[in-house]
Parts: sequence; structure tokens; C-alpha cells
Amino acid sequence: MTITTDTPCIAASLMCCDPLQLGGEVRLLAAAGVDLFHIDVMDGCFVPNFAMNAAQTAAVHAACPVPADVHLMVRDPDPCLAMFAGAGAAVISVHIETCRVPAETLQRIHSLGVLACLAVSPATPLELVRPLAGLLDMLLIMTVTPGFAGQSIIPGAAARVRAARNLLDSCGCARTPIEVDGHISPQTASELHTAGASVFVAGTAGLFFGDMDYAGHLQTLRAALRK
Ligand code: DX5
Ligand code: ZN
Repeated sequence: MTITTDTPCIAASLMCCDPLQLGGEVRLLAAAGVDLFHIDVMDGCFVPNFAMNAAQTAAVHAACPVPADVHLMVRDPDPCLAMFAGAGAAVISVHIETCRVPAETLQRIHSLGVLACLAVSPATPLELVRPLAGLLDMLLIMTVTPGFAGQSIIPGAAARVRAARNLLDSCGCARTPIEVDGHISPQTASELHTAGASVFVAGTAGLFFGDMDYAGHLQTLRAALRK
């Protein structure tokens, strides 16, 4: 699959689904036309929470053809890579804060036939990305502190996305898309799109309002991204 900077992409954050209705909700999300399933994986160490796992990733992949964008928020991602590649991940995001040798982890993801994305938490200097830019299929800029859905967006999110866009462009990576994750609403999506993001993780602020009107909320998000 390809993710580009040209066409905005909406990734539904499946940790925001009703865990007792996951199968039905992913089918509704697929029918509504989401571009990606964003699957958050947490180990209770890197972030003080747990979310989804490889078995759920495999089950979702078997049920729906929507590509899986797996976000590893774990203290040591290397041992998890083959498991999630085997579960059907199309993209694996690893946090730069958790990689012993980021370049090796990214190359290992590529060797598994999966797109490699580097995730950066809000407090992490973007300059750390510069030596790795050429290895990335995507850069994930966290717009909340990783670990929980339902948070408020960090102050200065748009400026941080703009700085990340400028950094990638200055490295000759103008075609590398930026994904944003955390409190993506129609308003924040529009602002972050203007700042240079093109992949938007939609959770409690964008898609999951309890009414399961995913087609309607997706239409609202896409309309906001056309402004
Ligand atoms: C948080 C996760 C996000 C989160 C998004 O650590 O990475 O994907 O579920 O949910 P909202 O949109 O509610 O911030
Ligand atoms: Zn996420």
C-alpha cells in the first residue's frame, strides 16, 4: 500500500471502539470508508496503559481489507515486530524514545515487508529525526501524550507539525507523509493539514461519539480537510 502527502488519509483508532463490539464496529468503519485501522499497542511500561494486541490485529485483518497501522507504545519494540507483521500490519510505528538503535529497528520493519514509521512524543526534540529521515515511510507526530484516548491536544501542535514538515523537506523527504495522532477533530485536522500533516488518526474527537454514525463523522472530517 502507499500513503502519500497528496491525499488526506483517515485512520480510525480502534482502541476507541466498544471492546464488546469490536467486530461489528470494524465492519461499520470499513463500510464507512476509513482508509486505515490505527491499532494502538501498549505495554504498561512505556505508557501506563494497555490497549490492543496481535490477536486482535490478526482478527481485524481477517475480517476487513482495511490496512492496519500499528502504533507500538512499548518499551522494547524489536521483539514485537515479527508478531505484528505476521498479524497483518501494513505499517508499524515505533517510538524513537524506545529504540536502542532506531535505524536498525526501521530496517528490520522493512525486512518484514512492512512500511516503517517513526513516532515522536511531544517532549522529544524533532532534530533526533534528522539522521533517520531517509529511512521513513511516514513520520508520526503525537499531538497528545501517548497512552490514552480522550485527551486535549498539546499546545503548539500545528507549529510542531510545521517544523517536522520543514525538517523532512530539508532532508529531501518532501514526499514522506506526516501522521498526527491525538485529539484529531474536524477543527484540529484542518489546522494540522495546513501545517503539513496528511494522515489523521481519528478517535474520540473525530469518529467515536457513541452514535456509530461513522459515515457521517468521516464525511465531516473529510470536508474539514478540503477547506
Ligand atoms: C493515544 C493513541 C491515540 C488515541 C487517539 O496514545 O495513540 O491513537 O487513541 O484517541 P483520541 O482521538 O481520543 O485522542
Ligand atoms: Zn496511536
